[in-house]
Amino acid sequence: MKTLKLGIAGLGHVGCGLIELVERQAGLRLPGEVQITGVSARSRSRKRPVSIEPYKWFDDAAQLAVSDDIDIFVELMGGSDGPAKVAVEAALKAGKPVVTANKALIAEHGQALADIAEGQGIDLLFEAAVAGGVPVVRVLRDSLSGVEIERVAGILNGTCNFLTTTMLETGRPYAEVLEEAQRLGFAEADPTLDVSGMDAAYKIAILSAMAFSASLDFSKVAIHGVDGVGLFDLKLADRLGYRIKLIAEGVLTEDGVICRVAPMALPVSHPLAQVNGSLNTVRIEGAPLGAVTLTGPGAGPGPTASAVMGDIAKLFNPGVRSAFGRAAHHVTRKFISASEEEQSAYFIRARLSDRSGALARLSEALAAHGVSVDQLLQESAGADQASPIAIVTHVSARKQVDAAMAQLSQLDVLVDEARLIRIEAG
Ligand SMILES: NC(=O)c1ccc[n+]([C@@H]2O[C@H](COP(=O)([O-])OP(=O)(O)OC[C@H]3O[C@@H](n4cnc5c(N)ncnc54)[C@H](OP(=O)(O)O)[C@@H]3O)[C@@H](O)[C@H]2O)c1
Repeated sequence: MKTLKLGIAGLGHVGCGLIELVERQAGLRLPGEVQITGVSARSRSRKRPVSIEPYKWFDDAAQLAVSDDIDIFVELMGGSDGPAKVAVEAALKAGKPVVTANKALIAEHGQALADIAEGQGIDLLFEAAVAGGVPVVRVLRDSLSGVEIERVAGILNGTCNFLTTTMLETGRPYAEVLEEAQRLGFAEADPTLDVSGMDAAYKIAILSAMAFSASLDFSKVAIHGVDGVGLFDLKLADRLGYRIKLIAEGVLTEDGVICRVAPMALPVSHPLAQVNGSLNTVRIEGAPLGAVTLTGPGAGPGPTASAVMGDIAKLFNPGVRSAFGRAAHHVTRKFISASEEEQSAYFIRARLSDRSGALARLSEALAAHGVSVDQLLQESAGADQASPIAIVTHVSARKQVDAAMAQLSQLDVLVDEARLIRIEAG
């Protein structure tokens, strides 16, 4: 039976989850035996849920990466630069296949690292980097090779989906639900990467590069998070038949690939609107397939370690495809920004001061830029004398809506800044 020797750098949630899985591998379906020969992290003495005593300790992850004692380097430290990048580069240059869960590293430097791996004829695998336990990377790279993909869209951050779902279900405000998410372990002590949309942006950039054979340019990804979404927005949208969720999407256009993350309003009947709690979902649309949707746990030590182990299992029979699933000379498309001419319907939420003519002035501002109203919902003013209003526009060009929003921001009848959310076609 073949044995693969692992060097694991990073012994946090995922690293310790992987050690546990290796220790009970008899229950898994691996093509051979997996052995840990070396480990590395920041602190050797830190208390961990598993013992690292049996394994050789390396202070420097890059030394572990090139050690003669390992067949595979497993990078679970995180961070787009610094030790993770140095160690992964060292491993690949030394001819060691790499398995990583590091979305930031792959989104920022994936193409350069894939080029090194391809040059060496070895694998660079990163299933766990996107949607944790949901096997979307391998499905896109291998199983859907025969599909001309038009769009990849999904809910790729469980924390944000937990926040928007729970706020609406319980009627509790953002800060309170975020605190609960941290208590339950869904959100990090510092949730910035999640709520700012950055985490989902890393993932959709990776999927888009794979789906559309595009050169991955993370600087072109438009990123908006859920940090500004209020209970008020969610409730008004709900009353108009929409769910607001953080959606990450990659879309193929004639000019290139639009890749973005933003809160979107989804009709309640839309498949992504039904995904609640901390789950991740990816929907892949293309011809002649139609659509495929994958849903599951997008994070957590167990699900993520299982995805890492899936990649390790693949290395018993290595070297089938390049890291992003296409040869470098097939990379013809670029990431681009969305056009100002892009057509969509929008959800606009505002709070109007409770005086006569306020609604007329808001309507005039929209009409002045050719933005017409499909649905309108106004609630009575509360104690603060502000009257909440929600509008669903007809399909309009983004530049018209932006111009209307700029005019709205100048109106003295608005109590605070109006919010604009794109509506997903039903
Ligand atoms: N957690 C998830 O659910 C999840 C899901 C998908 C992907 N991922 C990805 O998996 C990777 C690991 O995540 P995690 O949640 O396991 O992180 P974590 O719990 O914070 O663990 C990070 C580990 O890396 C080590 N480390 C950090 N900086 C280091 C440095 N400069 N030099 C050497 N070691 C260093 C830490 O050492 P010490 O223990 O000594 O401090 C720790 O063992 C990240 O890329 C993350 O994006 C995580």
